[in-house]
Amino acid sequence: MNSLHFKSFENFLLSSAIELDLASVVKDIIAACVDISGILSHSTIEGLTGSVDQQNSSGETQKQLDVLSNQILKDKLRLNKSVKFIASEEENNVVTAAPAGAYAVAFDPLDGSTNIDVNGAVGTIFSILPALNDGHPEASFLQSGNHQLCAGYVLYGPATQLVITFGKGTYIFTLQAEANMFMLTDAKVTIAKQTSEFSLNMANTRYWKREFGNYVQHLLDGSGGPRQKSYNMRWTGAMVADIHRVICRGGIFLYPSDKREKVTSGKLRLIYEASPMALIIENCGGSAFDERTSLLSIVPTSLHQKVPVIAGSTNEVHTCLNYME
Ligand code: AHG
Ligand code: MN
Ligand code: MN
Ligand code: MN
Repeated sequence: MNSLHFKSFENFLLSSAIELDLASVVKDIIAACVDISGILSHSTIEGLTGSVDQQNSSGETQKQLDVLSNQILKDKLRLNKSVKFIASEEENNVVTAAPAGAYAVAFDPLDGSTNIDVNGAVGTIFSILPALNDGHPEASFLQSGNHQLCAGYVLYGPATQLVITFGKGTYIFTLQAEANMFMLTDAKVTIAKQTSEFSLNMANTRYWKREFGNYVQHLLDGSGGPRQKSYNMRWTGAMVADIHRVICRGGIFLYPSDKREKVTSGKLRLIYEASPMALIIENCGGSAFDERTSLLSIVPTSLHQKVPVIAGSTNEVHTCLNYME
């Protein structure tokens, strides 16, 4: 079979003049993700599906693969002299790595981990911030998302893809497994401003605030309702896969706050999920908000803080925010 010719991630880093130390951190994250992708493909055969008898700081029961993916990323990054601090959805506290490192790396090692047992798409999300020298190790992660130097995710789907931004456009690379290289398959991705597709867990309808419920009802009313258009719905239960669809073909991704005790401030984590996704989406010309504020402007007050997420096609995001006012 003939392969098309694409630019490699390595060449992209060179031609974009990404600072060498930052590039080395990104390359290590991606190498860990390639290892995770290999483990995922063997996980059923090797008995790596299912949960461990342990909870993370968000009160979720960890899967074996949550723990393993976390370990792979942590082991790789601890060896990089430029990584000072590591924070993860699966670690209670910040891990201190190289004292002279310039970067703080946050990640969701395995996103959508309930999909593991059904061989559904999952991902890894990461964010790189400048490490601060003063204060508590947590301080480096308690910076607003605007400070991110790089954010990305790896989607483990039919193909393994890397979606990444250094703050000047968002780029999609596809893993060419035989060559062990990510190749640039979509440069300067743009999210359509208008959409007629939404991504939302409809099973939570009874917990929503009235304003959000009205917005969704009007989506469902279709062309005969106030929005005068028919909407379609897609939800895989993995933020990486659901956001990826929004990036590739437009749409709005919604995880609002609701009345459940654990979800009063949303379900998704600001540092590991919302903030990096917001940088990626804004670099595609999309928008990313909690229920009123730009996600990138929120200064976290704690490591595992949760936020509502309303993100994707700009016009639809602003329509939703108007309902929430
Ligand atoms: P994680 O697997 O990293 O804990 O993240 C799960 C998140 C996110 O991927 C997804 O959008 C959301 O949880 C799904 O929530 P529901 O269980 O309400 O569908
Ligand atoms: Mn989790
Ligand atoms: Mn997640
Ligand atoms: Mn996770």
